[in-house]
Amino acid sequence: MPYPYQLKSIEEYNIAYQKSVEDPEGFWGAIAENFLWKKKWNSVLNWNFTEPKVEWYKGATLNITENCIDRHLDSMAHKPAIIWEPNNPGERTRIVTYSRLHKRVCQFAQVLKNNGVKKGDRVCIYMGMVPELSYAVLGCARIGAIHSVIFGGFSAQSIADRLEDAGAEFIVCCDGAYRGSKDIPLKSIIDDALIGNKTVKRVIVYTRTRTPVSMIKGRDVWWEDEMEYAETQVEKNGVVSFPAEEMDAEDPLFILYTSGSTGKPKGVVHSSAGYMVWTNYSFVNVFQYEQGDVHFCTADVGWITGHSYIVYGPLSAGATSLMFEGIPTYPDAGRFWDIIDKHKVNILYTAPTAIRSLMSYGLEPLKGKDLSSLKILGTVGEPINEEAWHWYDENIGRKKCPIVDTWWQTETGGILISNIAGITPARPGWATLPMPGVQPVLVDEKGIEVTEPDDRGFLKGNLCIKTPWPAILRTTYGDHERCRTNYFATYPGLYFTGDGALKDVNGFYRITGRVDDVLNVSGHRIGTAEVENAINMYADVVESAVVGYPHDIKGQGIYAYVILGNNKHQEETTRRNILETVTRIIGAIAKPDKIQFVLGLPKTRSGKIMRRILRKIAEGETTSLGDTSTLLDPLIVDEIKNGKL
Ligand code: WT7
Repeated sequence: MPYPYQLKSIEEYNIAYQKSVEDPEGFWGAIAENFLWKKKWNSVLNWNFTEPKVEWYKGATLNITENCIDRHLDSMAHKPAIIWEPNNPGERTRIVTYSRLHKRVCQFAQVLKNNGVKKGDRVCIYMGMVPELSYAVLGCARIGAIHSVIFGGFSAQSIADRLEDAGAEFIVCCDGAYRGSKDIPLKSIIDDALIGNKTVKRVIVYTRTRTPVSMIKGRDVWWEDEMEYAETQVEKNGVVSFPAEEMDAEDPLFILYTSGSTGKPKGVVHSSAGYMVWTNYSFVNVFQYEQGDVHFCTADVGWITGHSYIVYGPLSAGATSLMFEGIPTYPDAGRFWDIIDKHKVNILYTAPTAIRSLMSYGLEPLKGKDLSSLKILGTVGEPINEEAWHWYDENIGRKKCPIVDTWWQTETGGILISNIAGITPARPGWATLPMPGVQPVLVDEKGIEVTEPDDRGFLKGNLCIKTPWPAILRTTYGDHERCRTNYFATYPGLYFTGDGALKDVNGFYRITGRVDDVLNVSGHRIGTAEVENAINMYADVVESAVVGYPHDIKGQGIYAYVILGNNKHQEETTRRNILETVTRIIGAIAKPDKIQFVLGLPKTRSGKIMRRILRKIAEGETTSLGDTSTLLDPLIVDEIKNGKL
């Protein structure tokens, strides 16, 4: 499968970019010709950012799984679609060819149908990183059900909230998941999440760890039994088929929950056609994928990176996607390098936090590992510090592999700002140039475009995007107003990312981090308000305030200031109880790294917590805390400073 739209020189990039800005409809109409449609569109783009309303390829119909699987069967039936590397070394690798993937997805679509799942129904998927997770995702897409994948690290309470918000009636899960030396009892967590739930009718359980599970009569069924039954339904005379549901271009493909600065996580909704075109286009271009390459994205499918660059982007391009069940440090810190050597990986896409963590083990784990198959390296999820960038470049890429620093978000569906591997220039710490179709703008607090460079010659402001690209979120599930206020109301007429950025004279962007109350811990997005709510659930807590602070490995750590009630406290026990509470309410990923007990919090006379001050103290800044004169009780600041952990 050649990619006529793959940019091969900086001139081609410049021309494409120009055309995408001057004539977006012509540009994206031409790109869309490279996909399989059941019916072509009437118009390429209708939009306004006021409601907001965005429609790409209106009038067209398609099924994304025909683009990810069926259309490759003629020429690539025996090519590996997924190479699966298990968590436990010594266990067998599994290779799933396109033809096998087709069979499994058809079978699972039939399983869903047999269990009463219909187009538009919400199916929650809570599985470890096994190939069956991809079958489940694609099986949903095949019949037009909306999948909502929940990362295996989230707690029962988090799942319950998401199930309710999505009105999900079906769950697909595993008995358990292996993650390093741990064995996470996924089904048991689902059982807890379902206490009191009235909407879920069916739970399909895939056996991975053989941990004992309770199967509830009339509700829970085994994946293996269902698949075996479905096999005879989809396979007739050796031919496998299951009709792909005809979806409107704008029909929702999936919901993925993500944290914001306020309230509970919101369900970001992505469309079928636009999302497909964008993940494919960005995959093929940013990573310069060539037929036969093995692409290894180390993310979990529970996050957007896994959706877009393990499943939909690579498969729609007929690529080979490597899926790894485990973690980078198990059984030792050489695991990634073993996998690259074993499977001759050509493209490695990972997170700065993983690079920093592996860096801390030194070069010993690299000894004897042949990394010469690597051609391209990528990073995503947070700003990459120069030290980590150079370590990656020298020791993993042996200074021969372009590194792409890809900036994007759950809401953007795919990469928006990034260099294009080997085609446009890289610069450590800079995401560099926007993809064709992306028009970034930096604005000040009032929403006015920044035009005056600072003393380093950089424009500095809040990062917004002026016009829609095909994979922009369409809504937040069940609450369109929340989508409007969150992303389109801060600066009317613009999509606001929540990030701050710099722009240099070459038009390169450097993302400096969130400007809202959202933390980025090990590349995971966590709202400070969510963590505070969880801490406040603990019986003895009166009030809390959570901020981020620089952390060597995680990028950001979580620092919680907590006011306790009048009971007598054993600090260590209380600390442990608070951590347990947060784990219970959100999941272990949201556990504070530091908890400081305080007598009060710095508040303005109107009662607003001044996080700016708390942030500075957590960062270790003690002298210039800025103006504290508007505080209700300025003395509280000294007390907090003196007690800093
Ligand atoms: C936030 C989005 C995109 C998939 C994984 C995270 C930060 C993401 C970069 C980058 C600097 C980055 C931003 C963004 N971020 N990529 N290359 N350089 N920061 O998705 O959970 O939706 O988080 O991650 O702050 O807003 P997410």
